[in-house]
Amino acid sequence: MEKNMDIELSSMFVIFGGTGDLTKRKLIPAVFSLMHEGKLSENFTIVCIGRREKTSEQYREEMHEYVKEFSRFPLNNKLWDNFIKRIFYKNFDFTSNNQGYKDLDLFLGEMDNEYSTRGNRLYYLAVAPEFFEGIIRNLKNNNMVCKSIGWQRVMIEKPFGSNLKTARILNKNISKLIPEEDIFRIDHYLGKEMIQNILAIRFGNSLFEPLWNSNYIDNIQITSNELIGVENRGAYYENAGILKDMLQNHLLQMLTMIAMEPPVDFDPESIRDEKVKVLRSLRPFTTASLKKDIVRGQYGSGTINEVKVVGYRQEERVSRESNTDTFIALKTYIDNFRFGGVPIYIRAGKRMDTKSTEIVIQFKKLAGINYYKEFDQIGSNLLVLKIQPEEGFYFQINAKKPGNDFKIEKVELDYCQSCKYLNDSPEAYERLLLEAMRNNSSLFTRWDELEYSWKFIESIEKGYENDVSDYPNYEAGTPGPTGAVDLIEKDGRQWWNTEL
Ligand code: BG6
Repeated sequence: MEKNMDIELSSMFVIFGGTGDLTKRKLIPAVFSLMHEGKLSENFTIVCIGRREKTSEQYREEMHEYVKEFSRFPLNNKLWDNFIKRIFYKNFDFTSNNQGYKDLDLFLGEMDNEYSTRGNRLYYLAVAPEFFEGIIRNLKNNNMVCKSIGWQRVMIEKPFGSNLKTARILNKNISKLIPEEDIFRIDHYLGKEMIQNILAIRFGNSLFEPLWNSNYIDNIQITSNELIGVENRGAYYENAGILKDMLQNHLLQMLTMIAMEPPVDFDPESIRDEKVKVLRSLRPFTTASLKKDIVRGQYGSGTINEVKVVGYRQEERVSRESNTDTFIALKTYIDNFRFGGVPIYIRAGKRMDTKSTEIVIQFKKLAGINYYKEFDQIGSNLLVLKIQPEEGFYFQINAKKPGNDFKIEKVELDYCQSCKYLNDSPEAYERLLLEAMRNNSSLFTRWDELEYSWKFIESIEKGYENDVSDYPNYEAGTPGPTGAVDLIEKDGRQWWNTEL
């Protein structure tokens, strides 16, 4: 491991929820990758807390398998030995046990001395949301945060609240315990390479910014299709649905990056000030617009990659009569000076026919188009940002097709980032952990962003209070309910399914 000179990175990573899926599949492999890249200090250690009884040795053995499977780097023995000796497992009931916190603090103190972590602690709450407040309260009561030595930060997984009211209560309660600057609310999409790239593409090129407004943009489309269903998270998903699982956070965050004004600088607060303005300008839904501009769905059984899969209602811990949505398509507007009148189409679904997250900016057609009959086949200029699985972007323009006739064809100026860097982008969690250690909160959601996104979601949810849907309404492995196509086609537009 390279020596990292950044003393802020001397720290202890304390994970609540050490035996959960997130820790095993994402967090520990992400820390391993950071070490592989020489991004961690020699003074670094990890303490994982769980309610299951096991020794650190047993825990380390388990982690070996997960890192092997989920890290983007191969295991090499020397590195692994250096990594694994820094991982400790502590078993106690973090939901109630005050003595457990005292013991934990003593243990962390010993680790602090042994690894010279300077009192710096990054607490990560990878637990069910109902435990967030209790854990923070216990940390505070036991003087484990806001200490006079080093820094202590708390990373909180989503969902932050289950609606506007509960999110407000949670925020009010925890902000009495720790200051906003020590709270890092996670939206892992902000850690994705191509989401970060939006800033560079928008603000690093003279080409796009002058066109980035309602004079030139016809519409914006954000699509997030997944092949997977709800896996083993039925109980959680029954309450969340696609609205709270994807729209309230990941999809709206992508929209803020696309639509925000240029920040005065790249300081976290400057960026988040601009993002929050976008969320404030989102047009809330009304009873009338809900009917017209939203299509919801739930998957039935079907076939994906030649494997038969069950419908949502047959998933584990899901009600057989469930009305939970696993798909949504909607049209909304950002009512501000720059984007007023530009339709924003958003769709997301589980058990679709492809895995793909993309943002498409469709530019307006040329005003003079009708004067040249040769140009009748002209296509719209599109800027397509490929967020995942392939990373990159392309710009679709019109050009003459070689030959003796004057024919126009669409061509793509294509930048395939995945090809250039051979899929070597850091995992979102790697970046988020590193930036939290560096105290860069721009990749985390500020409370006011959450508040406005919950307000928008509330305008949708309210409209559906007494709605009973005729589900399932799309087959797994298909592009979702047909209504989603009608939603955009009735405006004379189309969804761009843009696999190159
Ligand atoms: C999570 C949702 O936040 O994001 C999951 O809870 C979803 O339901 C996942 O599958 C999608 O993340 P990614 O990084 O695979 O696009």
